[in-house]
Amino acid sequence: MDVQQSSSYCESRTRWKFRELETFPESIAEPSKRIMGEHMFQTEAHAELYSEFRPAPPVELLKIVVSVCRNTDKLLDVGCGTGQSTEPMTEFFGHVIGTDNSEAQIAQAKRRQNEADLRNLEYRVCSSNELTFEGSSFDAITACQCVHYFDLDKFYAEAHRVLRKDGILALSGYCIPVPSVGDPEMDAAIKERIMKLCRVELGPYFEVDIDYFDRCYETLPAPKSGFELVEKNLKIIKEWPTNLHVYLSYLKSWSPYVHFRKDHPENDIMASLRSDLRAICQGVFQQKGDSDCKVEVDTRYFVHIFRKVD
Ligand SMILES: C[S@@+](CC[C@H](N)C(=O)[O-])C[C@H]1O[C@@H](n2cnc3c(N)ncnc32)[C@H](O)[C@@H]1O
Repeated sequence: MDVQQSSSYCESRTRWKFRELETFPESIAEPSKRIMGEHMFQTEAHAELYSEFRPAPPVELLKIVVSVCRNTDKLLDVGCGTGQSTEPMTEFFGHVIGTDNSEAQIAQAKRRQNEADLRNLEYRVCSSNELTFEGSSFDAITACQCVHYFDLDKFYAEAHRVLRKDGILALSGYCIPVPSVGDPEMDAAIKERIMKLCRVELGPYFEVDIDYFDRCYETLPAPKSGFELVEKNLKIIKEWPTNLHVYLSYLKSWSPYVHFRKDHPENDIMASLRSDLRAICQGVFQQKGDSDCKVEVDTRYFVHIFRKVD
């Protein structure tokens, strides 16, 4: 994989981000509304939205993880949400267990499991701080788009305990997805509007620093001991052709948005975003309904993979 190319992409993203920060300096300076992991994704309505509109990781990423595993008997997916990152792993592992500290997310995950009749899969409510499994139980642990919420020291210690000898710990995530309509001027305006959403409107409600995603987890503290880095891929693109309705619904599944609406039920920022995006893309969207307004939301995923040592 092209780590070289990936880093330079990250650097250019970083430069671009700083330009954005100059435009919106007040954005992440005031993390006054930050909420910790155990208070997020808790309601049934949120979990339903999550289940319907969150993307699954690209198969290429899953295959990279599988390729470094010495055994594929048992996998644990921590912070599994409603199962998007867990279900596809049932193809590659003999048995898969998904855990999450939200009962609502796990209930949705189980509903999906029943619908798909996936038999080598089980779910359990449990915190990343205390994995309720015996030591040396798993060949691999995955955590997709969630490890930034965890108490990392506790999680790494628990991951080390429940992994078997030479077991794999794969931490993955994705950069903030921005839609494109294929017109450079419109795309630049869309990007600016989405950054305003993230950094200004929802900025104080982001539980974690957006830097973690923007810099592809390069700034996330790695395990200090007990693991060695075996693979890093910072540029795995998931092609996501979709439409305006799905994209806006995806944004509504963000926990910062859910918490913002709780504090400001009168302020429908998604309605304003929708009308701004429709105005920016008027020439392309015309009078079509949201579901007929096509957008490409190609999304950049990244993964850092460690092997248990000692
Ligand atoms: C953005 S979602 C990612 C879900 C899924 N892995 C995916 O790729 O869609 C983050 C998930 O982490 C869970 N979570 C947050 N903090 C947690 C913790 N300390 N222990 C277990 N799960 C946690 C949340 O409940 C939520 O379902």
